[in-house]
Amino acid sequence: MTDKNININFKEYASFDELETADRELAEAAVDAMKGSYAPYSHFNVGAAVRLGNGQIVMGANQENAAFPSGLCAERTAMFAAGAQYPDQDMVSIAIAGGVMGRLAKSPATPCGGCRQVMAQYQTKSGKPMTVLMIGEGRIWKFEKVDDILPLIFDSI
Ligand code: THU
Repeated sequence: MTDKNININFKEYASFDELETADRELAEAAVDAMKGSYAPYSHFNVGAAVRLGNGQIVMGANQENAAFPSGLCAERTAMFAAGAQYPDQDMVSIAIAGGVMGRLAKSPATPCGGCRQVMAQYQTKSGKPMTVLMIGEGRIWKFEKVDDILPLIFDSI
């Protein structure tokens, strides 16, 4: 038997101003994307913004439905839109923001497991790391690759 350890490194920023320009733009787009949230059940608004290899930003927001499983998270809404509209572009970065009544929460928005798996697949598709920005009011986390938020990624088939 051998004890193993997985170590995760990430950066924490105290404000949007501390971010480099491209990240700040993407973080602002994620907050802006919260306006597109349709959340009549949870009242939790999530926005996501995906940066493509050509620099373009694709936004998404959570969409809920009375038949609960039919709704979709903001991250997947954004990634699937990017994948469907720009199939030849890599997804180089994603930013996520969330809160209630359209107001950004203090805690950074942490993506659900299903969205992490979808990020992992698009990262594998592009063959390059996808950075992940989780946005909170006065607290922003940056992960350099999806592996850092989804260790032991499933990509066996
Ligand atoms: N939600 C997201 O949009 N992204 C996540 O990663 C977690 C949860 C949405 C789904 C639902 O509309 C609401 O937040 C409450 O779960």
